[in-house]
Amino acid sequence: MSYDLIVIGSGPGGYVCAIRAAQLGLKTAVVEKTALGGTCLNIGCIPSKALLHASELFEEAGHSFAKMGIGVSAPKLDLKTMLQFKQDAIDGNVKGVDFLFKKNKIETHYGFGRIAAPGKVEVKAADGKTTMLESKSIVIATGSDVARLRGIDIDEKRIVSSTGALSLPEVPKHLLVIGAGVIGLELGSVWRRLGAKVTVVEFLDGILPGMDGEVRKQSQRLLEKQGITFKLSSKVTGVDSSGKTLKATIEPAKGEGKAEIIEADIVLVSTGRVPYTDGLGLKELGVKMDERGRIVTDHYYATSVPGIWAIGDVITGPMLAHKAEDEGVAVAEMLVGQAGHVNYDVIPAVVYTMPEIASVGKSEEDLKAAGVAYNVGKFPFTANGRAKANQQTDGFVKVIADAKTDRVLGVHIVGSDAGNMIAEAAIVMEFGGAAEDIARTCHAHPTLPEAVKEAAMAVAKRAIHM
Ligand code: FAD
Ligand code: NAI
Repeated sequence: MSYDLIVIGSGPGGYVCAIRAAQLGLKTAVVEKTALGGTCLNIGCIPSKALLHASELFEEAGHSFAKMGIGVSAPKLDLKTMLQFKQDAIDGNVKGVDFLFKKNKIETHYGFGRIAAPGKVEVKAADGKTTMLESKSIVIATGSDVARLRGIDIDEKRIVSSTGALSLPEVPKHLLVIGAGVIGLELGSVWRRLGAKVTVVEFLDGILPGMDGEVRKQSQRLLEKQGITFKLSSKVTGVDSSGKTLKATIEPAKGEGKAEIIEADIVLVSTGRVPYTDGLGLKELGVKMDERGRIVTDHYYATSVPGIWAIGDVITGPMLAHKAEDEGVAVAEMLVGQAGHVNYDVIPAVVYTMPEIASVGKSEEDLKAAGVAYNVGKFPFTANGRAKANQQTDGFVKVIADAKTDRVLGVHIVGSDAGNMIAEAAIVMEFGGAAEDIARTCHAHPTLPEAVKEAAMAVAKRAIHM
């Protein structure tokens, strides 16, 4: 079988790349070893958001409904049904990709892909049968896997990665989370809302490294108020699983001071993800990798071997579905001679806790380190009419603009709908817009995005409702 393009991996990078390539007239095939949609649809973005949604409503039914005059008896958790709700969300999305592949005449080969030589992909199916496919171009979109911690063996039952934490058959009494990054906070929130005590151990002295400092501090305070306990500047050096409860040894990150034992019934290891290239045959082909196991590409996603490209979690950059998708589109367009492009300065990041935490562009810390002069405009949701009406006033919007040109350099939002609101900031930044541009754009009232407008007005110290 011969193609113009074979994409290995059908996550958001791979499946979007295949669809765009097919739209552009390339005869395209996808090789997938498990299920269409990759990490994102099957064990990542989609199931985690389904559980975040359901658990948030569960908590609201218990806490907020009565305040609004909605009388319901105390909500009862039917975890089996909630997990089925999550599974239905996965299935619906996976079916959607299958439909789009058929619509675009993309051929799917289920099995493990190995690049036997440039232009040749061997597919080994589950029954051991191998098929050799040929193609002018190959795009590697094999994604990432859970980063392991030495001495802590993930069994996906009691010591789990995000994958196990998305399918726990019972609410843990005590969930110990290692790593206060995105996964730790999102899945920690899910299980706390459903009744678990949650302790998060973080190596650094704050949560969500890399985000704006003020956002990190306020988010930590809000999550603590909800009942999550953080043990910062600490590391888990081992988990004893011989008894009925797990016994985790926690030590100060710097290694000096007393160790303590924390008992938990589930430990979630969420200390990052690593690129996944096992069995692809890259070493034999001479594909260049960096010191962190990522495939090295140039600006056009070309690897060091002609005819082989790579995108998504398996290359450098944030491990985010939308970044992978945009790279998928860009590489497909470049393959037909168009000018595909991804602007890495404007990739939003969202943490889907309640309130949500969203960010695009530079933080104050980034700009200080780069010696760039900037102005900040901030607006709290306590002063936004819609947030007040909804009684969801936690958080703020922060707009950072260049001191000389007023160009928006970064926007950071903590707020109930931050993930949707950050899109406006990304568009303004993509067009090189100024804070004044947002400030002079009419925003509907009463809406939460009015807080973005007010924060932009606050850059010039002229917010109205503050
Ligand atoms: P993947 O989605 O990892 O897909 C790679 C695919 O390649 C897989 O299907 C795999 O089976 C297949 N594959 C690998 N090797 C082979 C081979 N040799 N042969 C055949 N097939 C192969 N990102 C967000 O932007 N928003 C979120 O809300 C979000 N939530 C997340 C929640 C969790 C719990 C996790 C773990 C991740 C989350 N992410 C989120 C990150 C997101 O899932 C990844 O950034 C994204 O899936 C990367 O896409 P990709 O196409 O590079 O790879
Ligand atoms: P992460 O990189 O976001 O966070 C890992 C955290 O663990 C960091 O705070 C780090 O300092 C800490 N850590 C590392 N080693 C440690 C140790 N030994 N002891 C204690 N703490 C330690 O990684 P996470 O949360 O596992 O997520 C992986 C990837 O998945 C992220 O890169 C993220 O981009 C993606 N993702 C995105 C989501 C979203 O967009 N909403 C949701 C979930 C995941």
